[in-house]
Amino acid sequence: MPYLRHRSFIQAAFGLILSFVFLFVLKLHLLSVFTPEKMSSTWENSKWAENANPLSVEQKKELRDIADRIVSNGKGILAADESSGTFGKRMATIGAENSETNRRIYRQTLFQQAERVKTYIGGVILFEETLYQQDPATGERIVKLLQDQNITLGIKVDQGIKDQEGCPGEVITKGLDGLSERCAQYKKDGCDFAKWRGVLKIQASGTPSDANIKAVTSDLAKYARICQQNGLVPIVEPEILPDGDHSIEVCQRVAEKVLSVQYRELIEHDVYIEGTLLKPNMVTQGQSCATKASHEEIALRTVTAFKRVVPPAMPGVVFLSGGMSEEDASLNLNAMNALRATIDIPWKLSFSFGRALQASAIKAWGGKDEGLTACGEAFFLRAKANGEACHGKYKGSGDKANTESLFVANHVY
Ligand code: 13P
Repeated sequence: MPYLRHRSFIQAAFGLILSFVFLFVLKLHLLSVFTPEKMSSTWENSKWAENANPLSVEQKKELRDIADRIVSNGKGILAADESSGTFGKRMATIGAENSETNRRIYRQTLFQQAERVKTYIGGVILFEETLYQQDPATGERIVKLLQDQNITLGIKVDQGIKDQEGCPGEVITKGLDGLSERCAQYKKDGCDFAKWRGVLKIQASGTPSDANIKAVTSDLAKYARICQQNGLVPIVEPEILPDGDHSIEVCQRVAEKVLSVQYRELIEHDVYIEGTLLKPNMVTQGQSCATKASHEEIALRTVTAFKRVVPPAMPGVVFLSGGMSEEDASLNLNAMNALRATIDIPWKLSFSFGRALQASAIKAWGGKDEGLTACGEAFFLRAKANGEACHGKYKGSGDKANTESLFVANHVY
């Protein structure tokens, strides 16, 4: 039937035309909905943008450069940020007065070593008072001694600890109020990095509790984000105190747990990991545990734990000394860097010691003018020892005086 064949041909052609029209209209519609502008505004309105890190490419580069500079070529940090109260406890050991003048004289003596120690010391953490102290002889700020040698200034921005509600026996760090304004001021006044110390305790009652780990690490992440917005590299310090008789295995497990939560929190708060430094304790047995681990075991357990949970993007681990003797702190650090011969380690492993860089210097000073030269020399020797340890080349000082424990129960800074 030619008539029917003709009809079905017309129907098929009509259907084809309709399909073309439909596809054309659909294309026009899709093009109008998914313009590049509209697609990006879709992302900007999504939950992924809620906390987006507001740092520009230039700001990120600045933070990365600061962090890299502090730990470059085996350099580390002098933590000279003891609060005036804590400084007083150090002065009590040598019978010296805890006066503003004494604090300046002592710290100025350390800073006068800047030219000699600049190959080992990339940064110094200051207590606020020190940032503004002037040498009465010249009228210049004493930190100029550091700045003249390109040693980077850092500042303690936490305000100590208090009991943590709902976590018996545990503590939380104070200082988030007004932090952004303080950071902006410190940046203007010459600082490029900051420190906030979180404190966690290993106790037979089961601490650190999940709630306290969350609270401490989350406040550290908030602090870190505020620092970065103000151009300061945050040192992230979730310190697990050495107090107690726990084994080194327990310390390793707690360290892995705390650090894994810490990095989750930093990511949750959109902190730029490349622009941070980590300041942890080394993995050791508790202070009163009868079994003492060797430098090699401490090194291996510390590196093993960190490789499990610390991202390779983070540029440098700068350990606190936590009451170890000057010599133990240096030998442990050395043993970690010596592991590089057999283990691939993605970050710099360096130091940010307080007690382990200053104990012999304070003793040598003794609070007397005639001790100042010896004080500077003792500081130089410890800085050199730790600089060598960063390269795995420290052989030990052989000096018994450096092996005294510097442990302080429930240490506050
Ligand atoms: P210690 O090296 O004395 O443990 O202190 C370093 C520090 O800055 C702790 O916050």
